[in-house]
Amino acid sequence: MSTEWPEVRPALILGSGGHAAVVLAALQAATAAVAGLLDSDPLRHGAKVLGIDVLGGDEFAESGNPSEFVLVNGIGGVSNTDQRRGVFEKFTALGFQFPAIVHPSAIGANVAQLGNGVQVMAGAVLQPHTRIGDNSVVNTGALVDHDCTLGDHVHIAPGVTLSGGVSVGSRTMIGAGATVIQNVVVGEGAFVAAGATVVSDVDAGTRVGGTPSRKF
Ligand SMILES: CC(C)(COP(=O)(O)OP(=O)(O)OC[C@H]1O[C@@H](n2cnc3c(N)ncnc32)[C@H](O)[C@@H]1OP(=O)(O)O)[C@@H](O)C(=O)NCCC(=O)NCCS
Repeated sequence: MSTEWPEVRPALILGSGGHAAVVLAALQAATAAVAGLLDSDPLRHGAKVLGIDVLGGDEFAESGNPSEFVLVNGIGGVSNTDQRRGVFEKFTALGFQFPAIVHPSAIGANVAQLGNGVQVMAGAVLQPHTRIGDNSVVNTGALVDHDCTLGDHVHIAPGVTLSGGVSVGSRTMIGAGATVIQNVVVGEGAFVAAGATVVSDVDAGTRVGGTPSRKF
């Protein structure tokens, strides 16, 4: 895909915190039309993020017509991707679309396969034959080398390096700055701590950290 924003419909961002600001910055860099942000906290309503209004809560989108705007997931997650997944699944079931977002400074999205709602942030690099499942994030400056496969609702945090042929199961988070060597399989719903060096497969649902990484 190209790094041009392909949508003519304006975007509504779900959330107004740190991750929402990062996706908003990516949309603005791609000169996308952004209608506003939504937040479940009424105290946030009327605030501005990078000059864009927080319009209301989820009901603002729920009462709208899915053909009039697209949604962008502004929920991040520092230890799991459950809330981010819940938002995506709820609004997808209501008929809304989440297009993939690629910051214009990211490299290689054109040689990768991106699912619905994938977010590739500033400075990330994707190498050929990489496949990324729905609602997954490749965050700022992360490197995803050739032939990697990422499931749905995966979070690759800032500065992660995935070497070639790595497989990451759905709902897994790889913490900031972690390195995963070639051909490792990280199971579903796993958590890799920040700064880990992963040199062998990680069981589904487990937490590993350290260099070389161990369960902890
Ligand atoms: C793993 C992590 C969740 C630990 O958080 P925590 O459960 O609050 O852990 P604590 O700070 O209470 O530390 C518990 C123990 O684990 C160790 N530990 C904590 N983080 C660690 C890490 N990243 N690698 C190795 N060991 C770690 C601590 O040193 C401590 O050891 P001790 O009991 O021997 O003193 C956190 O360090 C982490 O990696 N979070 C991911 C953050 C991230 O990637 N954010 C990106 C957002 S976009």
